[in-house]
Amino acid sequence: VVYLRQESDARPLPPGWRSYVSPEGLRYYVNSCSKETTWRHPSSSRKFLFVLALCSSLCLSGFFLCPPQAHGSPNLLMSDRLSLPICSIQMKLSSSLPLSLPQINCVTFPLPGEGPEQQLLKPNEWSYCDYFWTDKKDPQGTASVAGFEVLLQKQLKGKQMQKEMAEFIHERIKIEEEYAKNLSKLSLSPLAAQEEGTLGEAWTQLKKSLHDEAEVHLKFSNKLHSEVEKPLLTFRGDNFKKDLKKYDHHIADLRKQLASRYAGVEKARKALADRQKDLEVKTQQLEIKLSNKTEEDIKKARRKSTQAGDDLMRCVDLYNQTQSKWFEEMVTTSMELEKLEVDRIEWIQQHLRQYTTLRHETDMFNQSTVEPVDQLLQNVDPAKDRELWVKENKTGEVRPVDMDI
Ligand SMILES: *[C@@H]1O[C@H](CO)[C@@H](O)[C@H](O)[C@H]1NC(C)=O
Ligand SMILES: *[C@@H]1O[C@H](CO)[C@@H](O)[C@H](O)[C@H]1NC(C)=O
Ligand SMILES: *[C@@H]1O[C@H](CO)[C@@H](O)[C@H](O)[C@H]1NC(C)=O
Ligand SMILES: *[C@@H]1O[C@H](CO)[C@@H](O)[C@H](O)[C@H]1NC(C)=O
Ligand SMILES: *[C@@H]1O[C@H](CO)[C@@H](O)[C@H](O)[C@H]1NC(C)=O
Repeated sequence: VVYLRQESDARPLPPGWRSYVSPEGLRYYVNSCSKETTWRHPSSSRKFLFVLALCSSLCLSGFFLCPPQAHGSPNLLMSDRLSLPICSIQMKLSSSLPLSLPQINCVTFPLPGEGPEQQLLKPNEWSYCDYFWTDKKDPQGTASVAGFEVLLQKQLKGKQMQKEMAEFIHERIKIEEEYAKNLSKLSLSPLAAQEEGTLGEAWTQLKKSLHDEAEVHLKFSNKLHSEVEKPLLTFRGDNFKKDLKKYDHHIADLRKQLASRYAGVEKARKALADRQKDLEVKTQQLEIKLSNKTEEDIKKARRKSTQAGDDLMRCVDLYNQTQSKWFEEMVTTSMELEKLEVDRIEWIQQHLRQYTTLRHETDMFNQSTVEPVDQLLQNVDPAKDRELWVKENKTGEVRPVDMDI
């Protein structure tokens, strides 16, 4: 049981709770079902839940061993002299108290099946902000990776993929450039330069088309560079990794704060347990030997115990504040990362589309470079070529005649 300061409270009690007044005039509350006993009005939501959670965790661990008859009558619940809830087993155990809630690396989670049911923050969206609350054990099971770290790694991987795509496009460009160079070089070849007639014209055009095609490929490679490679390369420059580091440090700092607040709670919890034990020992002494000094001691011990309870509450409050700050930052930051990832994918998609568009264009243009060749090939006419050739190279059309004697 955590010590809670008594407060007068006129709010109605939740079902199952009854209030009693101790011989000293202090009001306390007993839950008739779960047998929780508290000084605090049970509708003091968060604090009440905290007590409840503490008790549930005791129950879960089989430690909730208050004698059942103690809860039936308020008189039995309180020591005659001291108006203390008698739940000494819990007090003894409190030095080795299990955590009030399951925790992973100082983040507290609800008990399975306990507490209000949690709704996803963004249902049906598979949003980052809903799925990375728990730290993950790495495969060796030694270190653990924060959920946020997993999101950051995804960002870094995305950045790396983007860089590798740019590298790939660069290779593609080099092939295109080399191809263009080879075509252009070949188009200058003197081979069969002396072919004549319509066939010669077609041949000349064919060689020229290689030059045009080379131009097409050069243009393609230039556009690939400026419209695909460069955007892929420059999308999110050096600042990006710095930004990620900032997010990383920010969240990691909050986690560190959370850890230290958690340690604070543990310390306060231990201090409270010690104080309660002390009080219990003194109570027992009083039962054996009544003395004014002991009475004074007990009052002092009770004050200290109450103070330790207050300290614990304060530490829990600080912990809670840090955890909710961390929670808020996690939600906003993970949603920012989610947006960044959507942007990255859309950006890359857009530029890969540009690649295919340019590639189609290249086909169409290089088609057009061979069209004149096709036309001239259609015009190739062996008869016409023969006519031309004959006209130019004829050596005489006068045929020989028979010899006359
Ligand atoms: C936990 O923290 C919240 C603030 O974030 C506070 O309102 C609440 O009372 C705290 N609970 C306990 C048990 O201290
Ligand atoms: C260009 O020609 C060279 C030989 O001159 C050859 O090794 C290379 O594979 C060719 N490149 C392309 C892209 O056709
Ligand atoms: C307690 O102290 C009062 C005086 O302060 C004295 O009259 C009384 O006898 C004492 N009782 C015991 C049990 O010592
Ligand atoms: C167009 O260029 C590609 C190489 O990028 C080549 O394989 C193809 O044969 C060319 N098409 C025409 C019609 O010249
Ligand atoms: C045919 O005539 C052309 C034009 O006069 C000439 O250039 C060429 O050398 C001639 N061909 C032969 C085989 O003499």
